[in-house]
Amino acid sequence: EIAADTLPSTLPRSESDRAAASTCRLMLAFLITGFSALLIGATIGPLQALNYGGVDAYPALRPLLQSYYQGLTIHGVMNGYVFTFFVTCGLLVYLPARELGVAPNLTMWRTCFAVMAVGALCVIYAMADNSSSVLWTFYPPLKGSPFFYFGITLLALGSTMPLPILLKMRATWRRHRPGEITPLVTYMSLTTMLMWGLAGVGVMAELVLQLDPWSLGLIGTVDPIINRTLFWLTGHPIVYFWLMPAYVSWYGLLSRQVGGKLISDPMARITFALLMIFALPVGTHHQFSDPGFSSIWRGILVVLTMSVATPSLVTAFTIGLSLEYAGRLRGGKGWFGWFRALPWGDPSVAAQILAAITFILGGATGIVNGSWQLNAIVHNTTFIPGHFHVTVGSVTAMTFMAISFWMVPHLTGRQLISRRLALFSVWTWFVGMTIFAIGMTWAGLYGVPRRAWVSALPHDTYHALYGAASVPLALVAAGGVLLWVASYAFFAVFFGSILFGRRAAPPPVPFAQSFGGPASSTIDSPPNPAQSASPLIRALDHVWLLTGITVLATLAAYIPILWPFLHHVTRAPGWILW
Ligand code: HEM
Ligand code: CU
Repeated sequence: EIAADTLPSTLPRSESDRAAASTCRLMLAFLITGFSALLIGATIGPLQALNYGGVDAYPALRPLLQSYYQGLTIHGVMNGYVFTFFVTCGLLVYLPARELGVAPNLTMWRTCFAVMAVGALCVIYAMADNSSSVLWTFYPPLKGSPFFYFGITLLALGSTMPLPILLKMRATWRRHRPGEITPLVTYMSLTTMLMWGLAGVGVMAELVLQLDPWSLGLIGTVDPIINRTLFWLTGHPIVYFWLMPAYVSWYGLLSRQVGGKLISDPMARITFALLMIFALPVGTHHQFSDPGFSSIWRGILVVLTMSVATPSLVTAFTIGLSLEYAGRLRGGKGWFGWFRALPWGDPSVAAQILAAITFILGGATGIVNGSWQLNAIVHNTTFIPGHFHVTVGSVTAMTFMAISFWMVPHLTGRQLISRRLALFSVWTWFVGMTIFAIGMTWAGLYGVPRRAWVSALPHDTYHALYGAASVPLALVAAGGVLLWVASYAFFAVFFGSILFGRRAAPPPVPFAQSFGGPASSTIDSPPNPAQSASPLIRALDHVWLLTGITVLATLAAYIPILWPFLHHVTRAPGWILW
């Protein structure tokens, strides 16, 4: 048993109550804004699932939505950018602040919020007036309004702002704890934000040098291939910016929530260091079907891409073993008894374990996408969205829901209005997303295209083209309907608890203890000079070294591919197809 009071869960006493209250309020603002974006995105998602099942809801939705593609742009942007960015930029500042016992720089954190909020409003405006149905990848020469591109620019810029806040908190902590190893949650948050700060250079270059001035009419044409390359320099790492915050919770909190310990602190650090280094160089694997670079490079990319699977496999084993350890402590016996013995009645625990289970399908389909030859079969089919709904649509979305189940009571001092409804929402999300993803990946194998308003086709054309895939497409629609139910059950719990939850003592942040790592220490805990840490852990703590390696690997992977593109510039005028 681990005593609750040995773990840091409060800001330093020197902080005034007002500063502590502001920190909580700001975290709550990030959380509410993020989940409000998901509310919009998750309302539209099932319409798309129905589309693939042959049901065209869109004529009934005018003038709210003019087309399927306007809805799809809103869905991708709200879920993929706004939801994930707000929750992550809250969490990866708040959790380290609590772990270190150091208050974050509130001005910088508020600026981060404000920049992203203005960006989100600009993008929402541009999507709502149907000027910018360019989808979340905004590939030129499709051309949207300046509000869209400037909004995305601000969102991207704001999302990197936690990096200086984290560096500052870590520096403050270090002044008080010289020679000690960065505590785990802070380490994971910092490597995530460093990775994302580097990755952001790609899309920032695309936006600032090309799309922003182009949308204003300052330049007349843009090069589609160069811009796609810059986009995916950020667009592949974004999948780690989606996953790593969920891993922070799995490694840093879940073991405690289930009543055990993290089985290996060093494994968590190695995972995050590897994710940081591998995330950037492989972005061009999203361009397997694009012209212009050699087969040799495509082969190298496959190998590099497969290496990114390593840290995720390490995560599966480390988290799996930590859960088993807790299950056995709780009296679980035999091969599966430990699994049943986990505290399934806690919606936060259930959501995270179920999320991890869906990730098996996510990882397996990801390996298909990352293999050049197999990719040719599934490219631009529903297989692709099938894949990423069992990654970002489950791992990230469900883990963020899980976090909200303890964080709302923690921040507001109000209990969940209903644990049963919370449990119902996560189980329904799990079942719905699994059925949906099986349907999408399976339909993709019949060549059903992604991003296609198939339900608007004449009935017999739809059947002639996609009749063979009618069973998987029915699964897609059924999964979508379940997801509607799941998301509204979740939002009832989330918003209901914030507004009407019964008052109760706020629970602490459930920081886990771990084996094999440095004892975690807040700024004002007793000195810890004899801290045991292996040479590897000490080396990994040099985050600037990791940064240097990442930069070199990225340059090595990108210069040979970008160089020829820069010598064969295409000048494409903008297209507006809606
Ligand atoms: C695309 C359904 C939740 C992110 C799609 C597509 C469908 C769909 C059917 C493919 C549309 C097409 O290719 O034409 C759903 C349903 C959801 C859901 C039923 C349940 C509420 C989410 C979540 C996220 C997400 C939680 C991320 C956090 C995306 C993204 C796309 C997408 C980024 C790509 C859009 C594009 O191709 O431009 N969704 N989705 N979705 N979804 Fe979801
Ligand atoms: Cu990728």
